[in-house]
Amino acid sequence: MRQRNCLFVKLGICLCLIVFVAGCDQRMRYQPKLKPLQESEVFADGRGARPLPEGTVARGHLLDDPMLFTGMDGTTLTQVLPIPLDRALLERGQDRFNIFCAPCHGRLGNGDGMIVRRGMVRPPSFHEDRLLSAPIGHFYDVMTNGFGRMFSYNHIPVADRWAIAAYIRVLQKSQHASLADVPEKEREKLLSSNPNQENQTQPETVAKLKAESQR
Ligand code: HEC
Repeated sequence: MRQRNCLFVKLGICLCLIVFVAGCDQRMRYQPKLKPLQESEVFADGRGARPLPEGTVARGHLLDDPMLFTGMDGTTLTQVLPIPLDRALLERGQDRFNIFCAPCHGRLGNGDGMIVRRGMVRPPSFHEDRLLSAPIGHFYDVMTNGFGRMFSYNHIPVADRWAIAAYIRVLQKSQHASLADVPEKEREKLLSSNPNQENQTQPETVAKLKAESQR
């Protein structure tokens, strides 16, 4: 009988504890605070969010290098690449160009991309004299601000836009190089290349280079 009483007492204590603990409330959950754009009587304009002080720049968005961000060297387009040039940059440029630009401009940049072959207006070839002599900043500027009927590609990160511009120079060089530009030990390979194999030098180019080497 005594044992039974003891059990009742224990159960009673447990019950009281449960009721007591359930009564606890986490007040931090309901702390007074303003959510973004919530109304507030504290400020005269009735808004909880404060306007940004003039000239505020978000972290990582400080455009402190005008040539890098605008492609301008003072008042004219830059003639020099504002980032270091190496093989990795050109490979990145090739990769991005083939994704973003080749559908219209073609992989060689001569303006006959797949979309153009299916009816899109034909862009100029990068191998025209005007674009061969255009400053490198022009290519960055066209990507950044668009050009005529071509819309802007400024969602491509700045460094990638320069990588593409540098790669366009590679394309231009590739179509206007002479045998003298090829390292001596590579020349033999180039002249003896088999045009029927994939990724080999075009037959016309081989003929041109052969004629050049016999001169
Ligand atoms: C959807 C098709 C399309 C894509 C994709 C495209 N372009 Fe163009 N691009 C054009 C057309 C069309 C023009 C000609 C615009 C005009 O003259 O009105 C042009 C013109 C240009 C020119 C020549 C500007 C001049 O001085 O005449 C450059 C340089 C150029 N594009 C670079 C690029 C680069 C770099 C990319 C990739 C980031 C790119 N384009 C992607 C359609 C495209």
